[in-house]
Amino acid sequence: MDQRSLATPMVATDADTDKDTVNNRKLTGFEFYEKILGSPRYVVAPMVDASELAWRLLSRRHGAQLCYSPMFHSSCFSKDPKYRKDSLQTCPEDRPLIIQFCGNDPKVMLQAALLAQDHCDAIDINLGCPQAIAKRGHYGAFLQDEWELLREIVSTLHCHLAIPVTCKIRIFEDMSKTIRYARMLQDAGAQLLTVHGRTREQKGPLTGLADWKYVTVLRKQLSVPIFSNGNIMSVHDVERCIEETGVNGVMTAEGNLYNPALFEGINPVSWEMANEYLDLVEHFPAPISYIRGHMFKLFHHLMHLKSNTALREELAVCRSVAEFRAVVVELKKRYQPYHDGLLKWTGEEEEQTKQSEDDVGGDESTKEESSSQPAPPDYNLQLPPWLCQPYIRIPPEAHRQKLAEARRLAEDPTREKRQFFDVHGNEISRKRMKKMRRVQRRPKNRNRNAQKRR
Ligand SMILES: Cc1cc2nc3c(=O)[nH]c(=O)nc-3n(C[C@H](O)[C@H](O)[C@H](O)COP(=O)(O)O)c2cc1C
Repeated sequence: MDQRSLATPMVATDADTDKDTVNNRKLTGFEFYEKILGSPRYVVAPMVDASELAWRLLSRRHGAQLCYSPMFHSSCFSKDPKYRKDSLQTCPEDRPLIIQFCGNDPKVMLQAALLAQDHCDAIDINLGCPQAIAKRGHYGAFLQDEWELLREIVSTLHCHLAIPVTCKIRIFEDMSKTIRYARMLQDAGAQLLTVHGRTREQKGPLTGLADWKYVTVLRKQLSVPIFSNGNIMSVHDVERCIEETGVNGVMTAEGNLYNPALFEGINPVSWEMANEYLDLVEHFPAPISYIRGHMFKLFHHLMHLKSNTALREELAVCRSVAEFRAVVVELKKRYQPYHDGLLKWTGEEEEQTKQSEDDVGGDESTKEESSSQPAPPDYNLQLPPWLCQPYIRIPPEAHRQKLAEARRLAEDPTREKRQFFDVHGNEISRKRMKKMRRVQRRPKNRNRNAQKRR
């Protein structure tokens, strides 16, 4: 490890380029973006359990120009050789690649980054995850208020790594605070910023739209390249985002999972994408849970047709690539005749479900759909269900209305029975409510709740 003090990091800026030789100096943000990354506009987001090697290769074949690894925990990565080996699965075609870490200790983050730097083109720091797990682990968007610590993490990595450090951030509601925040990261040494135009509070059913206004302003105010993240359902959104905000690249997560060919501007047949992915998995193995997650996303629209209930249950328990293939073959057999125009598709009733707890959207919503529970129905399906296309969530306003209606019903004195509701406002049985209360009373959860209250 470089012996320079971690406590007083030297922050290299564009001005430093004078005193460095071209070969051993660090490139500036834009030099890095152009020369190393190749000026990418189409970017696949970091996704826990989902942006693994096989998926990245599939996305690259279909237009992605830069991919991020899933987020890795810096502490596990630096301490656990097995975790590290699994995380570092890559190959020569898998470039340019940015590896993302989370953490809150500059030394640990540096250790992890040093072990990863020969396998990628930059190290990204996750400052956007808003989930409870990030709150407990004290990382992601929960570092958004700890500017001194962030300054130290970024500058430490910037000074001691041979490759650039980048950050993926969320916004504050306050525009000027967002600008100061982004500038602070840039001044500490971040050489590229991805701006997810949502606040930390915009998650779950209240995710709503990302605000590109913040992205536009940051693009103008900063001197490093900016990627925009959020609101991308098609390649038209990508072009519109670049035009409206002037960003250098556009990152998508969910859009890519539902349609890995999004950047090509096509809506391919889902079983063709699934087979191509499974071919890649044969060469570059992925955990079964990741494969299942991808299958559920690719077949999302088919899997909540009533006639596919049994197949969905089959998919939920697949344990091998061969078993996944069998489901793909069956889906192809059922829908190819419609796709070829031999049968006329007139639509089919969808399985009506409550919005499940898994349907949270946003960062690290990894459990979504990887089960035999049907996904919630589509808000606005435009194409036949066997084509890869985005899944459009119920808007926050509609969700709020649903909650208000549920409350109104609960308080209605003319109602015969008392009703119970989960955190999403869905009606649940008395039995389920009792179970939830029992779980809450368990010592482990009691401690957690007590901590929360403190
Ligand atoms: C399955 C899944 C996993 C994710 N994992 C990560 C992650 O590891 N690191 C991260 O910074 N964001 C993660 N995110 C958040 C996305 O990178 C992105 O910021 C968010 O989904 C908004 O972009 P989108 O509207 O294109 O989906 C994840 C999102 C999804 C859907």
